[in-house]
Amino acid sequence: MKDETRVVVAGRDPHSNYGIVNPPVYHASTVLFPTLAALRAGTGIDPNQVVYGRNGTPTIFALQDAFCELEGGDLAVACASGKAAIVTVLMAYLQAGDHILITDSAYQPTRTFTLGVLERFGVEASFYDPRLGADVANLIRPNTRVVYVESPGSITFEVQDIPAIAKAAHDHGAIVVADNTWAGGYFCKPHTLGADVVLQAGTKYVVGHSDAMCGLVSAKAPHHEALRKTFVAMGNCIGPDDAYLAQRGIRTIAVRLQQHHGTGLMLARWLEGRAEVKSVLHPGLQSSPDHALWQRDFTGASGLFGALLHPVTETQLAAMLDDLELFGMGWSWGGYESLLVPVDPAAVRTATTWGEDGQLLRIHAGLEDAGDLIAELDAAFSRLNAAA
Ligand SMILES: Cc1ncc(COP(=O)(O)O)c(C=O)c1O
Repeated sequence: MKDETRVVVAGRDPHSNYGIVNPPVYHASTVLFPTLAALRAGTGIDPNQVVYGRNGTPTIFALQDAFCELEGGDLAVACASGKAAIVTVLMAYLQAGDHILITDSAYQPTRTFTLGVLERFGVEASFYDPRLGADVANLIRPNTRVVYVESPGSITFEVQDIPAIAKAAHDHGAIVVADNTWAGGYFCKPHTLGADVVLQAGTKYVVGHSDAMCGLVSAKAPHHEALRKTFVAMGNCIGPDDAYLAQRGIRTIAVRLQQHHGTGLMLARWLEGRAEVKSVLHPGLQSSPDHALWQRDFTGASGLFGALLHPVTETQLAAMLDDLELFGMGWSWGGYESLLVPVDPAAVRTATTWGEDGQLLRIHAGLEDAGDLIAELDAAFSRLNAAA
């Protein structure tokens, strides 16, 4: 089955619900059991058992099953947010005395949780250059349990050599966790590249409409018991309406991502030709140092990429950004709408240095017409230049 078909059918079972196409939204805390034997059989740990609202309902199972099939895992859990998914995964596979290696390009709150919370519980963390590939082996310690990848990183967009990193990790008895939010589970399949656990901020492309929070984790068989147990122990549950919106989002993720891919690349190529732009950080561009790796491991690019401007003043930047109509300024991405925010990679790295001067913009190419978006950027550059 191709992914385009899989996302339409996965996790749905209309005939268990009067033939109604979409799974219903079950609002539940208390679940009643008809007999003592049924009451005793409900452990709460087993997936797809309805025992209590927090442990899952058919709405949530539909989402988990669809995500599991999309990523190619053996078991999935749905969390309250992408951040909650990250926390659940780190709690599931790390304990006092362990060490975790995290890509320097990781989503900043992943770093903050590890340093700010996990270290208090005796877990050591260190960070590595996202482009290290097999050389990550040199940083693996006897107590390294997790090597964390995020490919590409959502600020600087380095593509990671997941097969090489996975080989190094597995040779040393560590597991690989991948944040696959950028590819939406559609353009890249980290499980097939060697990742043991794959997570996504479902808030982004899975939901796709900027109106719900969701985190999703998929684990391969040897690792799913620890995931499910920690997930249940942490009380981390997604609300019924958000679960419904996320499973509905999966139905259209293939067409949406193809559109994001095309528009993102058109904007990236246009930006590469602008005098105001020093470089464009997009692995789909031939100019990207990661292009070959991206071609090997990805089937497309989502809408998120970076454009590094030559140095500008704050007044010029404000002139460029304040009057945007199609591009919104907001700290997210993956929805149908275009976004554009100034970002500072230097503030979020420790293992590598961001030596570039100039202002980096993070752009999310939404589902609007690419020509309309380019016209708006063109006018924005005119305002930037007029404010010089
Ligand atoms: C790459 C990545 N992972 C995880 C998250 C966290 O997701 P959420 O905002 O749903 O907690 C984000 C959010 O921006 C993200 O960009």
